[in-house]
Amino acid sequence: MYRAVVKGFGGIDQLALEDSPMPVPGPGEVLVRLTSIGMNHAELMARRGQYRLVSGNPPFIPGLEGGGIITAVGEGVDNVPNAELRRSEGQRVVLSLDAPASRGLGQGTYQSHYVVAADKTVLAPEAIPDEWLGALWLPFLTAWGCLVWRQNMQPGDRVLIPAASSSVAIAASQVVKYYGGLAVGTTTRPEKVSRLAALPEARFDHIVVTQEPHWWREAKKLTEGKGFNIIFDPVAAGEFLNQEIRLLAPQGTLWIYGLLGQPDTVNVTPLIRKMASLRGWLLNEIVASGSEQGAYRHILDRVADGTYALPVAQTFSLRDVQQAHTAMETGNHIGKLILVP
Ligand SMILES: NC(=O)c1ccc[n+]([C@@H]2O[C@H](COP(=O)([O-])OP(=O)(O)OC[C@H]3O[C@@H](n4cnc5c(N)ncnc54)[C@H](OP(=O)(O)O)[C@@H]3O)[C@@H](O)[C@H]2O)c1
Repeated sequence: MYRAVVKGFGGIDQLALEDSPMPVPGPGEVLVRLTSIGMNHAELMARRGQYRLVSGNPPFIPGLEGGGIITAVGEGVDNVPNAELRRSEGQRVVLSLDAPASRGLGQGTYQSHYVVAADKTVLAPEAIPDEWLGALWLPFLTAWGCLVWRQNMQPGDRVLIPAASSSVAIAASQVVKYYGGLAVGTTTRPEKVSRLAALPEARFDHIVVTQEPHWWREAKKLTEGKGFNIIFDPVAAGEFLNQEIRLLAPQGTLWIYGLLGQPDTVNVTPLIRKMASLRGWLLNEIVASGSEQGAYRHILDRVADGTYALPVAQTFSLRDVQQAHTAMETGNHIGKLILVP
């Protein structure tokens, strides 16, 4: 087997490939040959030393997501009475959200093979392609978990979705349309508007370019002047956040789920008049609540029946992990970047 390791905090030159002996699953464990590893912005931050809470110090293996095929099982895994929990060779699985953390700090998924406790795997429907198995959770659970599980969005809700070309935002556009809302995306790059409009997975009703100084006026017109009652935002800082606060409808909620923006002074006083809220959202809340199995089921069933579709920007061999990080850093992609071992 082989894996990608961050040797020290820094640039892509810190990413190295390492061979290691094939691991043997212990009692209660399975060995998964990963067929896809979803890439996330968090891994760029981890490589740069900006996400030590999850990565620990170098050397560490990055990666939050993975899925693939079970190639070996440890003692007691294939004969448990509950068929849902029984695991055997050949089954296709997605690693649970907390699988990497359960292996300890810095034991991420940038690996060709992954040993994990059997109960940290979720059986995947046949209809889901191998290449998508390890790349569904972060886009769809981040979006669905916040908008539906936490916010309980309703038909007719007006939802603003910044960073429209990110995989999380595109997944959010699908969730909002499925639940009957208005989905308005924003992008920083004008050239992405036509690319997003041509992408079947991007289901925004409108896209607004935030390079324009008064972009927020254009966005507000799309709500007939009412403003957005939900904003789902990974930027949420500085002047951008000031403009979003102007766009919030009375009693609206702005969910902050990412760290893309540069911190700066923000005027929050309009929140008083609007009785509106700013709230943080972290995917881990689903696992912490113990309701993750229902969330996994919703995403897998809706992907299997074609309601949701993963927007794949590009796949890279895990051996080309340096090029993959460069592509994510360059930011020309629309949708998910996937590593295939
Ligand atoms: N809270 C959670 O549980 C959770 C879970 C998963 C992901 N996340 C966060 O979600 C975000 C998106 O993740 P991803 O992996 O999908 O990222 P990604 O594919 O790298 O998408 C990044 C996109 O964000 C936009 N962007 C980047 N920098 C920006 C800036 N300074 N101002 C405005 N827009 C900017 C760009 O889109 P445009 O060109 O269209 O503007 C860019 O293409 C990240 O911040 C990540 O940490 C949070």
